[in-house]
Amino acid sequence: MARTVSRFAVPDLGVGVGYRVPHYTQVVEERPAIDWFELLSENFMVEGGSPIHHLERLIDAYPVAPHGVSLSLGSEEDPDHVARLHKFVERVNAPWFSDHLCWTGTRVHRLHDLVPIPYTPQMRDHIVDRIKSIQDRFGRLFAVENVSAYLAYKDSIIREQDFLSEVVERADCGMLLDVNNVFVSSCNLGFDPVKWLDSIPMDRVVQIHLAGHSIYEKYRLDTHDHPVCDEVWALYREAIRRIGPVSTLIEWDDQIPSLARLAEEADLARRHRDEALNAPV
Ligand SMILES: [Fe+2]
Repeated sequence: MARTVSRFAVPDLGVGVGYRVPHYTQVVEERPAIDWFELLSENFMVEGGSPIHHLERLIDAYPVAPHGVSLSLGSEEDPDHVARLHKFVERVNAPWFSDHLCWTGTRVHRLHDLVPIPYTPQMRDHIVDRIKSIQDRFGRLFAVENVSAYLAYKDSIIREQDFLSEVVERADCGMLLDVNNVFVSSCNLGFDPVKWLDSIPMDRVVQIHLAGHSIYEKYRLDTHDHPVCDEVWALYREAIRRIGPVSTLIEWDDQIPSLARLAEEADLARRHRDEALNAPV
């Protein structure tokens, strides 16, 4: 298997974790051996106060990348949200910023959930326009992330992986590959996750997400409240074998463990990454 060469000149930041409220002070005081931190954009889209105090201390000490949950690419743009996001992204000056291939409501009603979109040509064109617009305006690489799915729309006439590939090629943007989301969706919808990986343009992947999920009788739920499971580690190694060294991030957003436990999970990711990079290709 030939390894892909990234088309974007973005750095490999190593293995990081999300910068979460319970660890704000501890991170900057103890400087744990974590390579980088992902910032939840919506937590820092303010002018000052405690979030900005912690943010400035963090960016003095670690590389960071912003990751949002409210851009709602599947719906119309909220100019106020985009303006505030722009200020935040400028402030941290990271090599890329990201959000999800989904919709999260309208300007008036926020769902606070990452709802999958119907995969249609009309939706593809809409999302391409939205990504092009924001990427051009910010003058910075945008990476779009695949979400977990629990159902498929009757109106979807394009496979998710083809839809995603067409979006990133036409918008000429990056991809944030969430390996756990691919695995959760593959269990819920019944597809082969390795074949899914082989269907997307790996040279556009600038970051990977890993997370734990919950298993119920008939479905799996992307809860970000567990360690990464063995099947997701295996799929991560498959992704790394194809992509090469790429910034990786552990998402743990509920029942958040100690910083030491998060650092252990990042260490484990580093070991899986090294194993995949050293595997024969
Ligand atoms: Fe994710």
